[in-house]
Amino acid sequence: MSRLIYGFIILSGLVMGRPVAECSSKPPAFFLAGDSTTAPDGGWGDGLLATLKKPAWGVNIGKSGATTASFLAGGYWANTTGHVKDNVAKYDSYVTISFGHNDQKSTSGVTLQKYQENLIKFANEVKSLGGKPLLTSSLTRRVFPSGQDHNATDSLHDQRLAAIAAAKATSSTIIDLNEASLKYINAIGKKAAREFNYGADMSDTTHLNPHGGAVFGRMVADLIIRADPCLEQYFTPNKTLSDLIWGDLPA
Ligand SMILES: *[C@@H]1O[C@H](CO)[C@@H](O)[C@H](O)[C@H]1NC(C)=O
Ligand SMILES: *[C@@H]1O[C@H](CO)[C@@H](O)[C@H](O)[C@H]1NC(C)=O
Ligand SMILES: *[C@@H]1O[C@H](CO)[C@@H](O)[C@H](O)[C@H]1NC(C)=O
Repeated sequence: MSRLIYGFIILSGLVMGRPVAECSSKPPAFFLAGDSTTAPDGGWGDGLLATLKKPAWGVNIGKSGATTASFLAGGYWANTTGHVKDNVAKYDSYVTISFGHNDQKSTSGVTLQKYQENLIKFANEVKSLGGKPLLTSSLTRRVFPSGQDHNATDSLHDQRLAAIAAAKATSSTIIDLNEASLKYINAIGKKAAREFNYGADMSDTTHLNPHGGAVFGRMVADLIIRADPCLEQYFTPNKTLSDLIWGDLPA
């Protein structure tokens, strides 16, 4: 190939804003490990899976009440790695790892250090099986102190930093959902954020109703695509919703 053509290919790769490296020929599968903020009925996991386009697919293994320790002890982590083992030959097997809401409780028996160690263990296991860990920082809670309608309590700050550190320690991808979700609800404010609340009286500021699941599932999908633009083709876009989310407007 002439140097001119080579230069053109590299240049067009840069202009497109994409890495010059080729995309994988295997479609992705997404296995979602996490607590209730990932799980069906209250989390963003099913919202994320709903955005996938065949042949991409996934399984929501999120478990209500789970800490990193109980997810392991209860066999849910074995379920997750089992899916990776079964599918890694045919699918690029991604595992979202998103905990913190239960680990952070003083009664959990999981210190912040142990939490970070467990995240590292999970990421390393996924990698050792040939899968791709996506360390996903905890969805923010939507608690606004009185008179602070655009300044939600940053209650998962330390858990976010632990997820970032675990990603760094394992050379894994960080999906910084905590930062993006906190920034978003602070931009739209308490009243608009209430629309995502779980429960008949919409008073549950941790879990998501189906609409909230769709919004934050889309947010995670967009963050995954940002982290790996090769995956964009496997998601059904919803430009209206993405524009609202990233334009800091109520969805
Ligand atoms: C794995 O988890 C999924 C989602 O919770 C569940 O449907 C499935 O039955 C589990 N499989 C095993 C072998 O535990
Ligand atoms: C937001 O709340 C924190 C305490 O939670 C406080 O330190 C900070 O000043 C507040 N920011 C604004 C802009 O009010
Ligand atoms: C896209 O998102 C908007 C805003 O949430 C929603 O009203 C619409 O139903 C979504 N479209 C599809 C096809 O899901």
